[in-house]
Amino acid sequence: MILSSLGVAGLGLGLANLALGAAVAAPTYQLVDNYDASNFFSSFDFFTARDPTNGFVQYIDQKTATARGLASRPHGAVYLGVDAVNKTTSGRASVRLTSKKAYTRGLFIADIEHMPAGIGPGGSCGLWPAFWSFGPGWPNSGEIDILEGVHGELHNTVTLHTGAGCVVPCTGDAVESTQLLRADCFGHMGCTQKTRVPGSYGAGFNAVGGGVYALEWTDQAIRVWFFPRGSEKANELSSSSASASFGDDIPNAHTNTTTSSSSSSSSFCNSYDDDDDIDNLTRQSRFQNTAPNPSTFGRPIAAFLASPTCSFADHFKEHNLVFDTTFCGDWAGAVWADADGGMCLRAAAGKSCQEYVGQNPRAFMEAYWLIRSIKVYQLM
Ligand SMILES: *[C@@H]1O[C@H](CO)[C@@H](O)[C@H](O)[C@H]1NC(C)=O
Ligand SMILES: *[C@@H]1O[C@H](CO)[C@@H](O)[C@H](O)[C@H]1NC(C)=O
Ligand SMILES: *[C@@H]1O[C@H](CO)[C@@H](O)[C@H](O)[C@H]1NC(C)=O
Repeated sequence: MILSSLGVAGLGLGLANLALGAAVAAPTYQLVDNYDASNFFSSFDFFTARDPTNGFVQYIDQKTATARGLASRPHGAVYLGVDAVNKTTSGRASVRLTSKKAYTRGLFIADIEHMPAGIGPGGSCGLWPAFWSFGPGWPNSGEIDILEGVHGELHNTVTLHTGAGCVVPCTGDAVESTQLLRADCFGHMGCTQKTRVPGSYGAGFNAVGGGVYALEWTDQAIRVWFFPRGSEKANELSSSSASASFGDDIPNAHTNTTTSSSSSSSSFCNSYDDDDDIDNLTRQSRFQNTAPNPSTFGRPIAAFLASPTCSFADHFKEHNLVFDTTFCGDWAGAVWADADGGMCLRAAAGKSCQEYVGQNPRAFMEAYWLIRSIKVYQLM
């Protein structure tokens, strides 16, 4: 009771400040970092400790990864691969990279051409790749799993992990096919939204040349969008990634008010209507430059809304960005027996995830990330 009335008071103050800010000088998203093949390997560190998720993996350092061809820059993109040659009983060699820089809030646009996944039935067995972010003192500064899944999954799963006291019981303005699997964000399980958008993960993602993933993280909401390669938005966002100055590349915003008003009235959590006002205010005032404008993105594939049951300002801060590819472990290993409808167990002739991954290097020839760019925008 006391907490929730405090929350409302705080919100009122926030709105007043925003309105004032908008009248004087509205904050707008500005590009703060642009990672691509030219600077990626100097801006991200190679993580070489034991996999905290207990994967059957050996994360190797930059020198080793470069020498073995597991980290490279083919035709202007960033390649992060795994050892698809050697058998192993101690963990498959792979890489995990962490951005040197940490961010609190922002708009993150990742243009990804290929993610770790095999082709055909059983082709992705054992895999667990992720593009994610997390802050110090896990899970107390939060974790955002932007693009993640296991085995032959076809649809992305978006998950938040936090310290205790963060429950996000709805999918906000996310597309209707998105399903809330768990509402409590605390700890290892996290709060999870399972998407059903075609091509958002795995072989389907790779089949069209990937696409653009966008994360907008504010104190009000954490939203993830996916635009498959060839879609209008992917074209807009990836053409902007090709040029250093945005200039005329980004068409003027065509805000679809039909979409935004219907989603705000029907799909947002009933319990926190004021959230819409903040979003509207900020969205209208923050995009006066040529930075990508999330209000033109349409409905996200996942949406977590802050509320009296979770203060995002308290639970999410100072996130580093991470790309990794691991095998088996706490998620992929735990669901091995059921993976791909039993396909993985059949492909492995009944053997364990670790044995399969260790003894079948050629199964992982497609287990690589190919990243064109990651752009980070923050409000200035
Ligand atoms: C396979 O193992 C050998 C011997 O350790 C190593 O030299 C080679 O680079 C490895 N191949 C890959 C692709 O990691
Ligand atoms: C706006 O959204 C509505 C409802 O989703 C859709 O029917 C309409 O075609 C959209 N208009 C534009 C210009 O995208
Ligand atoms: C948000 O903006 C849309 C489009 O301008 C408008 O239709 C809607 O009523 C606004 N919502 C609120 C809560 O002000």
